[in-house]
Amino acid sequence: MTDNKARTDLFSPARLGALDLSNRIVMAPLTRSRATDDGLVGDLQATYYAQRASAGLIIAEATNISMQGRGYALTPGIWTDEQVAGWKKVTDAVHAEGGKIVSQLWHVGRYSHNDLQPNGQAPVAPSAIKAEGDTYTNDGMVPVAMPRALETDEIPGIVADYVRAAENAKRAGFDGIEVHSANCYLLDQFIRDSTNKRTDRYGGSIENRTRLTQEVVEAVLGVWDAGSVGIRLSPASTSAGNTPLDSDVMATYGHLIRQLNRFNLAYLHTVEGVTGGARQMPEGIDLDVLRAEFKGAYIGNNGYDLDLAIARRAESKINAVAFGRPFIANPDLVERLRNGVPLTDAPRETYYGGGEAGLTDWPKLAA
Ligand SMILES: Cc1cc2nc3c(=O)[nH]c(=O)nc-3n(C[C@H](O)[C@H](O)[C@H](O)COP(=O)(O)O)c2cc1C
Repeated sequence: MTDNKARTDLFSPARLGALDLSNRIVMAPLTRSRATDDGLVGDLQATYYAQRASAGLIIAEATNISMQGRGYALTPGIWTDEQVAGWKKVTDAVHAEGGKIVSQLWHVGRYSHNDLQPNGQAPVAPSAIKAEGDTYTNDGMVPVAMPRALETDEIPGIVADYVRAAENAKRAGFDGIEVHSANCYLLDQFIRDSTNKRTDRYGGSIENRTRLTQEVVEAVLGVWDAGSVGIRLSPASTSAGNTPLDSDVMATYGHLIRQLNRFNLAYLHTVEGVTGGARQMPEGIDLDVLRAEFKGAYIGNNGYDLDLAIARRAESKINAVAFGRPFIANPDLVERLRNGVPLTDAPRETYYGGGEAGLTDWPKLAA
């Protein structure tokens, strides 16, 4: 495909599985930490997402499937009826503007703190190995806590929490769901051999470590048709010390992606490189090789600009492109890219927390 054709194509309707998109520009999931203590969203988020509804698809901010899945204060949930009602306002507002929106289902695993957990318990993880880094609680930033390893017989309960969240996403009027199996959260912690030291059927071999992600996908397909379900992976994520999290990324993710082909999902969405960081791959990792293993549609993300999106579309490396940070201060990102209008940069201070400021007060271009 020529660059010109690829450019036109990015702004033209496309189909990912059963999802009909008005263009191939996707809004990446962005945690904005403006939900209530009870994980409720409402009018504020309805306005925010409706402003961005010209994206071909919005992947809503990561949404906790359970209280146990929470790792940050003020992030939304989708396990109570009240939370569902809040999300219904959001999906109605996006649909009224002609947009499409899916819910990203999230369990942070070890990346949490007792203060965020039911009854002040320790966070759960594949193995009792503490993460590096801080999280945000009602008392401000604190180091993440030491997790406890999940018992084998607790795992069906976690899969059931994903199913309940998938059902709730349907009740809330979403167009689909994205299983969040990226960015070193619970499902990713099971996949990697540096965070998973289990000796049961969920640990050890690649088959075992990728089992939970597959079980979750299979279970939510009892609720949603496969064409409305996507998955997000970040094979090249590194730990805080920039060390690879898995001893054989190509073999581990190659196996997982080949297995995912069984399900005919709407799309595979990959963070290409270190999330929000470099696109350069560590030695021995080639995401295009992994991408070629996937039989369905592919959304590329991480550090894209329009030129890169055009180039990768021209080479048939992506079906759609997800932009994260550019959507924060450019609600009409699609129109700006189409018209070559310079983009506004959002200061980091606006990313997380607060109210309308930095969330819904970014102007659109004058008509
Ligand atoms: C403020 C902020 C919040 C984010 N929240 C999420 C999230 O909820 N779920 C997720 O999978 N990724 C999340 N990410 C990662 C983005 O989806 C995306 O992968 C990253 O920003 C790279 O894309 P970009 O270069 O277009 O911004 C977040 C990134 C930022 C900057």
